This record gives sequence, C-alpha cells and structure tokens, in this order.
Amino acid sequence: MVTQDDLKRRVAQSALRFVLPGRVLGVGTGSTVDLFIDALAAAKLDVKQAVSSSGRSTAKLAAIGIEVLDLNDVESLPVYVDGADEIDAGFHMIKGGGAALTREKIIAAVAQSFVCIADASKRVEVLGRFPLPVEVVPMARSHVARELAKLGGRPVWREGVLTDNGNLILDVHGLAITDPVATESRINQIVGVVTNGLFAARGADVLLLGGADGVRELRR
Ligand code: 5RP
Repeated sequence: MVTQDDLKRRVAQSALRFVLPGRVLGVGTGSTVDLFIDALAAAKLDVKQAVSSSGRSTAKLAAIGIEVLDLNDVESLPVYVDGADEIDAGFHMIKGGGAALTREKIIAAVAQSFVCIADASKRVEVLGRFPLPVEVVPMARSHVARELAKLGGRPVWREGVLTDNGNLILDVHGLAITDPVATESRINQIVGVVTNGLFAARGADVLLLGGADGVRELRR
C-alpha cells in the first residue's frame, strides 16, 4: 500500500528538477520539505546557498553543507519550494501547520516561482477544513480571537507554540473560505495579526501533486 509518506517522498524527489544549479534556493518548512532536503542531499546538486523559512529547515540545510543566507542579503530568488496544508484549484493555499507561515509568506513574496509540493490529500475544492493558522502578537491574542469569532470562525490558541518570531498561533476552525483573497486581506487588517496562513494574493505557480498513480505537474 502506498502511504502518505511515500507520496510526500515522491513529490519531494520530483521537485529536484526545479532547482537551478548555482543559484540561491528558497526552502520552506514541514515534513514534505524535510524529505525534499533529504533528496537534495542525496542528489548532490550544485546548491551551495539557500534561504530558509524556519529554524527547523535551517538546521537541516546546514547539516548537509548548504549555507543559509539572510533574506536581506539576497537580491533575487528564482525558486521557492514549500509544502501546503491545503491547496485549491486556483492554487490558493492554507499554510502554517508548522507555524512558519510569516517567514514562508515573506520568502514567497520575494521568489519568482513558488513550487508547491503536496500529496493528493492536500487538494481541496474549498479551503478551510484545515484550521487556518493566524500568527498573533502575544498581547493581542484575546482581541484577535474575538475579532476572528466575529468573522464566523472558532479560533483555538495553539498552546505551547511560539513562532520563530516570538509570536503565538491561533488556529481558526469552521471557516469555508470561498473568497481566499478577500479573507486573507480581511484577517490581516485585524490589529495584532502578524499575518495569516492564507496564501491567496500570492499563491503557488507550480503544483507537484503526489497521487497513487504518480506525480502530476500542474501550473496556474
Ligand atoms: C509549515 C507549512 C507546511 O508547508 C505545511 O504545514 C505542510 O506540512 P507537511 O509537509 O508536513 O504536510 O506551511 O508552516
């Protein structure tokens, strides 16, 4: 039987063809990205430098001898490879299951091409079954939770989790996100929100979707 981990491994492997030799590579966060970094190490491609969206990925990259640069020192980033918690037909995503959404969104904004690597379970018709992560400045947690409830969601504090930026995560349950661009913008306007896990205004450009019958490459 093909497991979800097998599918993640296959998409991770197939993302290697998007890596440009000699160029800085953008690397996201999560279990699929962990497998991508493993594949990168095994393939011995000409990748010497990367930018990373989390301490977790930075440590893994450093362990295989890839220098992790400060994004401020990078003028252009041709490719960013990252996973997703959900992705719809318009290539809008929910991300942030690994609490790295803010750094992921910043790197995605800089990258010319966002290559999303996901197993088939991540492809959905309507975003929102996966609780939407929202990064919040600690003193604003209750205020932001009240405002999110007014939008129809049920925010749950991810207790014990601090982001790499020293902030908190609220996971918003019960949203059916039919207009991801508007919802992303609306939630970002709540005072105290750093950003939310909707990647809609800037979605993915390429989706590598791993299913039982292989990896499909889809373009927006
Ligand atoms: C981390 C993320 C991840 O890309 C997302 O959670 C998918 O993770 P996984 O590859 O473990 O399923 O957004 O903040």
